[in-house]
Amino acid sequence: MEILDGKKVSNQIKEEIAAQVAQMKANGEKVPHLAAILVGNDGASLTYVGSKVRSCERIGFESTLVQMPNTTSEIELLKKIKELNENDDIDGFIVQLPLPPQIDEQKVLLAVHPDKDVDGFHPMNFGKMALDMSTFIPATPFGILELLDRYQVETQGKHTVVIGRSHIVGRPMSILMGRKGFPGNSTVTLTHSRTKNISQITTQADIIISALGVPGFLKAEMVKDDVVIIDVGITRVPDETKAKGYYITGDVDFENVSKKASYITPVPGGVGPMTIAMLLKNTLLARERHRSRA
Ligand code: GUN
Repeated sequence: MEILDGKKVSNQIKEEIAAQVAQMKANGEKVPHLAAILVGNDGASLTYVGSKVRSCERIGFESTLVQMPNTTSEIELLKKIKELNENDDIDGFIVQLPLPPQIDEQKVLLAVHPDKDVDGFHPMNFGKMALDMSTFIPATPFGILELLDRYQVETQGKHTVVIGRSHIVGRPMSILMGRKGFPGNSTVTLTHSRTKNISQITTQADIIISALGVPGFLKAEMVKDDVVIIDVGITRVPDETKAKGYYITGDVDFENVSKKASYITPVPGGVGPMTIAMLLKNTLLARERHRSRA
């Protein structure tokens, strides 16, 4: 069994990007600028956005955090998005999800200009991704592809089972793993909450990508020997004995499933850090495209 070490690989990617940024600075060019809008004070979202902004600073990007209260109206958020669309200094931005219930997520995703949509959530970019055109690929699926690539995990002709059909992970992942090329060329099954007899499907899988958010969901008896496991789940489980009052766990019963797996991502330290690294990579791409348009 080999651990797919997202922490290590993400650090390598960040070093590669930092070297490119240093070169940009040396050439007197503008460095990439990422902005993030965070509405409300959900603890997990605060942590994620905080990490995204800190990573920008560490690798030499400019970053802007826009914090808005939980009571923000849809109109106020759309106005802020318009401002960021029009701000020529900002190369790319994200609106952290989930949003409070008074805001229509679809309207928000449509409002972000596709050229600045480093999350790859705008229908224009999502459509391009599905049609194999060059675009921003959503950061978590992009990070999973990069991990499979850097560890040279065989995907061609394999049966990939994706668990969860979210727009952020499951749906794009199911498209990407079936695309021509590497990583890809897989036969994909997308499973979700209405799937019957999921164990019957997961025991047929060569690669399982679980993005469900249910701690310990995937058990050893649900997988075959030598399976590749990608655990996207990040759940905070309350625990008084921990300094933070919780611990982080994934969808996979790591202790038992890892004994059967050929490769497996840990939680934390697997997919999570890769998501941030790929957001930075998308922001670098946004900067390069912005410069070539200017
Ligand atoms: N919430 C959970 N993951 C993500 C992500 O990749 N982007 C945004 N904007 N929100 C998220």
